[in-house]
Amino acid sequence: MRMTDVIERKRDGKALTGEEIKALVKGYTEDSIPDYQMSAFLMAVYYEGMSDEEVAALTDAMATSGETLDYASLGNKTVDKHSTGGVGDKTTFVVAPLAASCGIIVPKMSGRGLGHTGGTIDKLEAIPGFKTDATKEEFNTLLKTYGMAVVGQTQDLAPADKKIYALRDVTATVESLPLIASSVMSKKIAAGAKGIVLDVKVGSGAFMKSADEARKLASTMVSIGEALGRKTIALLTNMDQPLGYTIGNLLEVEEAIDTLKGEGPEDVTELSVQLVARMLMCTDESITFDKAYETVKAKLLSGEALEKFISYSESRGADRALFSSFSSLYEGVETIDLYPEQEGYIHRFDTQGIGRAAMWLGAGRADKTSQIDPAVGLKLLKKSGDFVSTDTPWVRLYVRKGTSCEDTKRLLQECIELGAAAPDTLPLIIDTVT
Ligand code: URA
Repeated sequence: MRMTDVIERKRDGKALTGEEIKALVKGYTEDSIPDYQMSAFLMAVYYEGMSDEEVAALTDAMATSGETLDYASLGNKTVDKHSTGGVGDKTTFVVAPLAASCGIIVPKMSGRGLGHTGGTIDKLEAIPGFKTDATKEEFNTLLKTYGMAVVGQTQDLAPADKKIYALRDVTATVESLPLIASSVMSKKIAAGAKGIVLDVKVGSGAFMKSADEARKLASTMVSIGEALGRKTIALLTNMDQPLGYTIGNLLEVEEAIDTLKGEGPEDVTELSVQLVARMLMCTDESITFDKAYETVKAKLLSGEALEKFISYSESRGADRALFSSFSSLYEGVETIDLYPEQEGYIHRFDTQGIGRAAMWLGAGRADKTSQIDPAVGLKLLKKSGDFVSTDTPWVRLYVRKGTSCEDTKRLLQECIELGAAAPDTLPLIIDTVT
C-alpha cells in the first residue's frame, strides 16, 4: 500500500478497503507513516467523510491497536455508559452504582477534564484518599465484588486513537463526524463491555450544537457498535443548561450523592434513571422501557445504590464518615452570590461559558498541566424558565478566600439570556437512537 495513493483516493471521495484502513492505522501507530501524511489523510476525511463500513473498519483498527479487555468470566451483563461531554454531568456516580444494584456489571474507564467540561476521574479524586487507578486484577476484583469499577483509562487502551487524536487537535480535524464517532467507539469497544449506552449531549455546552448533528453522530456510533457486536443505544440529551445545579468537582460529587439519596435535582435523577433503564434493556432484549424504568426508579428509592457507592468508595480509600457531610472539605472557601442585572425569565444559558467560568475559578484545567482545586466551583440557584429579579441571586460562586474573580463574574453575567415571557425549553431527553 502506498500512502500517497490512499490519501489521493480519499481526497477524491473514494471509499477505502478495510485492509487499507487497518494498514494505515497500524503504520501510524508504529511510526512508519509520518505525521504529515496522516494529517493530509485526516483532512481528506474531514472534507470527504467516510462510509459506515469505513468508519467501522477505522474503529476496529484503533480499538485493536493495543490491549482489549473482555469479561467472559463475568457473563453477559457488562454495560458501559459514555457521555460525549457536558457541563455539570455527574451522572456516572449515580448510574454506575444504580446499574450495579440492578444486576448490571459496569466496567468504566474514564478520563480527566480539559477545558470547559469536567472529568469523572478529577471529580472522584475530590474525595480525599480516593484511588482512581487500578491494576487489571484490582479492576476485575472490583467488578466481581461491587458490580462496578470506575477507574482512569489505561495507557494501553486504543493507543492509535490517542496518537491520532493528538494530531487532530493540532490540525483542525477534531470536528469530523466519522473521526469523532470512531474515536469514542474505539475506546468503548477496547474496554470490552457487551452493551454500550451513549449520552450524546446537544446544545450550548456540547460538541454538537444542534439535534440534527447530534442525531447523525449518535446513529453513526450506534451503527459502529452494532457492526462490532455490541448492543448500543444512544440518548440525545439537553445541554442548553448545565446538568443539575453544581459545577465543580466536590460540589458535583455531593449533588450525585444527594441524587442517590433520592434528594437530587430532577434532571440529574431523571437522566440517570433513563440511562440505567437503557442499560437494562441492553442486557435483556425482552424488557420494555416502561418496565425497565420502573425497576430502576424503585432501586434508586431503595437506597441500595447509595450504599453501593459508599462501600465502593470506602474500598478505594475514602472515609465512610465523609458521606454524611462534606462540609469540612470546603475549609478556606467562601461563597459569593451574583445577582442578575435585569429581571425576566431565563431563556438560555451559554453553558460552555458557565463551564469556562468554573474552570477560571480553578475547578477545571486550562491546559494539561493546570492544577485543579477540588472545592471551588459554582452552584446555579435558578435554571431555564425560572423568573429572576435583580434582588434574587442566580448563581453562587465557591472561591478560595481572597481570590479576585472579577473576570469570572463578568463572564457569568454574559452567560444568562433573559426574556420578558416564559420560554419554550428543550426537553431533557430529546431523542433515542437505537
Ligand atoms: N471525544 C473523543 O474521545 N474523541 C473525539 O474525537 C471527540 C471527543
